[in-house]
Amino acid sequence: ESNHVNAHEPELVPHKGIKLIEGTHDPDDVDQICNLEIRDSDVFVITYPKSGTIWMQQILLLLESKGDVTAVSKLSKYSNADLIPWIELKGNRQAFITAPSPRLRVTHLQHHVMPSALSQRGKVIYVARNPKDVLVSYYHFHKVANMLETPRDFSDFFDKFLRGDVFGCSWFDHVKTWHSHKEDMNMLFITYEEMIQDLQSVVRRISLFLGKEMTDEQLANVVKHSTFNIMKKIPHANYEQVPGDLLNHHQGRFMRKGTIGDWKNHFTVAQNERFDETFNKEMKDVPLSFIWDI
Ligand code: A3P
Repeated sequence: ESNHVNAHEPELVPHKGIKLIEGTHDPDDVDQICNLEIRDSDVFVITYPKSGTIWMQQILLLLESKGDVTAVSKLSKYSNADLIPWIELKGNRQAFITAPSPRLRVTHLQHHVMPSALSQRGKVIYVARNPKDVLVSYYHFHKVANMLETPRDFSDFFDKFLRGDVFGCSWFDHVKTWHSHKEDMNMLFITYEEMIQDLQSVVRRISLFLGKEMTDEQLANVVKHSTFNIMKKIPHANYEQVPGDLLNHHQGRFMRKGTIGDWKNHFTVAQNERFDETFNKEMKDVPLSFIWDI
């Protein structure tokens, strides 16, 4: 079955050991990122795609406004991504240089192209998600996002993901590398599954990490307004203002399912065995475990 809707499928362009999306990223911009000056007040949320980036954007926006939801919803003509932008998107590097503090940014970039100054200054929050659910979420997102190639079918995408032939490259390399640099920068390493299981304590950890003084009531507000059921109704958390030529909103919502274990509805037994084999080989020396279902 073919899902092709685009006349032209954008390509992934290999560049300095990573892959860039044609039209979305500018290789020259990306080359300059490693030299950016970092301020102590900078905060970077770093994720492999589909690991909860928008969730962290929402939490940081709410923490900035001390849980004041009206302040956040006044911003609803923007997307979460306008408010906490991707550093690697075309044109965003210049804006970063002159932006007032605190500069809150997200990125899917790999460690070797990020500012080297991050080991001395600024704060990093890395969010990792179990890669079976990442694969499934990414598969659906490829059908919605017109800047990504529409998958031929699930099995084809499964192979591409395991080969690292997607934006973000190999999930294993991304998580392993950032995890290995956990100690040489000011980094909070959290998982999507921890957020699902105990959002309140994760939000508390984030607020402590960022040095935010919050009352219990303010924290409770942050938690409430970053739950899936609330976020799925917020237009700016669904990129609803993004035009249909970039996101095909009829193919599905950005806030899709928000659970642990949806991979079980997609993987065959054989695919699961293959995945486990790769996971066990790639991650055998990494002291990191994931929750695969609840
Ligand atoms: P699913 O496709 O599995 O539903 P990213 O922002 O990195 O692209 O990640 C998107 C994924 O995070 C989607 O996963 C989305 O539903 C999920 N997500 C976003 N906000 C969430 C929340 N508040 N609770 C649970 N999952 C959330």
